Amino acid sequence: MPDHRSLGGAAQRSRRFQSAIRKETFAPEETKQLRRFSAWEATELILRVNAKTFSNKIRAENDMPDGEVEGGSSGMRWFTLEELNQIRNNWKERGKYKLRPSRPTGKRALRVAVANFKGGAGKSATALHFAHAAALDGYRVLVVDFDPQATITHAMGLVDVPEERTVWGVIAQDLILETKRMNLERKLRGDTGPEISLPVGIEGAIGDLEAPDGFISQTCWPTIDAVGSCANAAFVEFATAEYRMANRAWSFFAAVDRFLARAADDKYDFIIFDCPPAIGYQSLNAVFAADILYVPTGPGYWEYDSTTSFMSQLSEALGEIAESYAHDKKVGSQLPKNFEAVKVVLTRFEPANELHVAMQEALGKVFGDWMAEHPIELTRAVEQTGRFLRSIYEMDYRLMTRETWKRARRSFDAAYCEFKATAMGVWDKLPEPRARTTEGTAA
Ligand SMILES: Nc1ncnc2c1ncn2[C@@H]1O[C@H](COP(=O)(O)OP(=O)(O)OP(=O)(O)O)[C@@H](O)[C@H]1O
Ligand SMILES: [Mg+2]
Repeated sequence: MPDHRSLGGAAQRSRRFQSAIRKETFAPEETKQLRRFSAWEATELILRVNAKTFSNKIRAENDMPDGEVEGGSSGMRWFTLEELNQIRNNWKERGKYKLRPSRPTGKRALRVAVANFKGGAGKSATALHFAHAAALDGYRVLVVDFDPQATITHAMGLVDVPEERTVWGVIAQDLILETKRMNLERKLRGDTGPEISLPVGIEGAIGDLEAPDGFISQTCWPTIDAVGSCANAAFVEFATAEYRMANRAWSFFAAVDRFLARAADDKYDFIIFDCPPAIGYQSLNAVFAADILYVPTGPGYWEYDSTTSFMSQLSEALGEIAESYAHDKKVGSQLPKNFEAVKVVLTRFEPANELHVAMQEALGKVFGDWMAEHPIELTRAVEQTGRFLRSIYEMDYRLMTRETWKRARRSFDAAYCEFKATAMGVWDKLPEPRARTTEGTAA
């Protein structure tokens, strides 16, 4: 009869096959590259400027990049994202065009958790498209992958992220910092009782505590960074349960919130969390750190059932946290957790499918103004991206008919514009980034 050893054997055989596929589809020595964007995309979709004015500027002005002519594009010039951002910055008469993206001054980055415990609901596709659309819009983005399936990590071109540099590392580091803080406070109070001790080996596993930025990697998009994940990070759920036993006063759900305040809040415009298909310690950290909760849901009845259960379980979990930690002097003021906005967005939507339209209407009645007006449509090009999820923004429109590509892009653009409008409606209410001390920790 099969036991754990049989499962181990099957996993070993599967890994051999997996590495053969991986070699064919994504050689480890190969790094993912972001494509260039054509002058047509730049003027019509990205910068939204007059095409003639654009080409005159590119030709005449010294501080404007020229781009490159690519084969098969009949003289059209193509630009990297860095070059597009250079054009944004160096364009003189900015009054006429809004080339730089708007954001309230002095506010910290806006954080968005894309979450639902239904597997395959479209969380990673939504998070990836929002991240790419925001970067093309000129924003600086940090993506945090809370899912050991590492879908968005791989999609951003990161491979072989060490487990201690994932959200597991962030959570373990937080336990160490918080425990040290609590022990020091006890000592200063004159408490002579035994110190709270840390789980054995945890400090050695995490490494340099002075460098919270060490969890953040650059990606193939010049203005998107990521906290990546990997399959081994799956044990974070077991580990966090053990850490809670070691230090019962530790507010485990606020670890990522504290990490972002220390390391990242003043460096980015948007911080986007891709959550795993489960409510656990990772999802709770993502949701607690988020200003906006985005819940993607597929258009089927069973997906509707799952979304309902997700809301109910999340409500219970956040309610329990609010009750248990209300008197904690560090996090109590942030409880109960308030979101600036919640949005439910239908994904893989087909406008000609009557069932999908009926689901859209039903969800609209249930969720009211939480329901996103623009569903994300099913897009064959995204569906068929294969082993590594790719966004429509990364795909070269020359690989399909221009109309197919534009139709797909229109749907993701509309969803992104709605997301951005939601963000703009709440950003002003956020606190300013906290000042940092020389040790790199929040004051
Ligand atoms: N709008 C879309 N059009 C076509 N295919 C899509 C779309 N959104 C998602 N998909 C496809 O559906 C599958 C599941 O999507 P995705 O990985 O985004 O879901 P998920 O909720 O992140 O899944 P998991 O729960 O496993 O993390 C993927 O293969 C993706 O390519
Ligand atoms: Mg996913």
